[in-house]
Amino acid sequence: MRLMKMPTTNSKKTHLLTYSEPDSIISDQFRTIRTNIRFLTNDKENNIILVTSPEDGEGKSTMITNLAVSIATQKEKVLLIDANLRGSIIHRTFYVPNDIGLANVLKGYAPLETAVTKTDIEQLDVLTSGTEVANPTELLGSANMTNLLKEVAPAYDMVLIDSPTILKSTETRELANQCSGVILVVTCGKTGMAKLMEAKRILKLAHAKLMGVIFNDR
Ligand SMILES: Nc1ncnc2c1ncn2[C@@H]1O[C@H](COP(=O)(O)OP(=O)(O)OP(=O)(O)O)[C@@H](O)[C@H]1O
Ligand SMILES: [Mg+2]
Repeated sequence: MRLMKMPTTNSKKTHLLTYSEPDSIISDQFRTIRTNIRFLTNDKENNIILVTSPEDGEGKSTMITNLAVSIATQKEKVLLIDANLRGSIIHRTFYVPNDIGLANVLKGYAPLETAVTKTDIEQLDVLTSGTEVANPTELLGSANMTNLLKEVAPAYDMVLIDSPTILKSTETRELANQCSGVILVVTCGKTGMAKLMEAKRILKLAHAKLMGVIFNDR
């Protein structure tokens, strides 16, 4: 699936086009991606999807937020988790606080219910990254993370997880193994074939299921 360049504005919600311009071509492209995902995850037990990419800054967070909005506005209940503990951004995109989030829950400092936040979009909840931690790999690879995913999955139609690059972060490998499927975001023309193949190989080693690739044309 190829996604075209998004127009630039000064708004912070620049790249939430699925929200601001639901009738645009790009919003339509996100609906297609959503439909494709639905074909691949047609039972409710396989509803945890990780979005990652071979390299930094390829558009993972932009893609996942638009996808989350697109799915939620189609009347499905979505939880968007920011598991990029070193480069979190979801709280800024949705203007929600980040003092309690995923890291706090995983450390056992906060109950899950207090960390999940509602957004302006009715069917969309977010679990922001939370307080910065020194050991993201340990936390995301812990049994607490497995239990958290087991707890949230039945409560939502879809759980989407934003993550750091797969080539550089061991935590993404840990997460990939715990999800029903993985979507790779790659920059058109920038991501080399070797990097893409390496990402594919790592996912295979992690016993993760690669569901598809979004080519981000930016
Ligand atoms: N299709 C697109 N059109 C225009 N700008 C884009 C597009 N995709 C991403 N961008 C911009 O590129 C920058 C990086 O995108 P984003 O933060 O989504 O990448 P990322 O993969 O999540 O980065 P990181 O690895 O740091 O988490 C952002 O400024 C974003 O607004
Ligand atoms: Mg990101």
